[in-house]
Amino acid sequence: MKHTRTAVLVKPDGLQRGLIGEIISRFERKGLKLVGLKMVNLTDEMLSQWYAEHKDKAFFGDLKSFMGSLPVVAMVWQGIDAVPVVRKLVGTTLGREAEAGSIRGDYGMSQQYNLIHASSSDEDAAREIKIIFDEQELADYSSVQDQVIYADYERG
Ligand code: CMP
Repeated sequence: MKHTRTAVLVKPDGLQRGLIGEIISRFERKGLKLVGLKMVNLTDEMLSQWYAEHKDKAFFGDLKSFMGSLPVVAMVWQGIDAVPVVRKLVGTTLGREAEAGSIRGDYGMSQQYNLIHASSSDEDAAREIKIIFDEQELADYSSVQDQVIYADYERG
């Protein structure tokens, strides 16, 4: 079965709140494979590319200045259906309405300070990964854990 990649950013509020380890741990425990990890200051140009779909929204300026205010922790996670699996673990945008058990549902109250970004489609994931990572920065390895996380026919 096809193993795909998704991009995750821990936003400046997640960094300030000391939630990096907790967030990484949730994805690890789920059985996703970490293939990229970087702490990065997003420039205005990177943010304009990243949030191109929101460029006409009233909150675009606020969103960019918030996301550029501190480094973010960027990650790439891999597994079967990585995009929907990660979005489910992250929860819906508004923290105070997000499902209990999800990252936003357990740790967030806000709409803008919602701790984490996760790609919304495979196409978005490919586009977002390229904004932050060079291909050689992404690890290609077989995880020993895959033997017990996936059945034979599911292994990539
Ligand atoms: P995310 O879904 O990761 O990507 C778009 C982000 O814009 C969203 O998280 C929020 O952080 C932010 N956002 C969405 N709606 C608003 C809003 N009304 N005001 C400020 N920020 C918002």
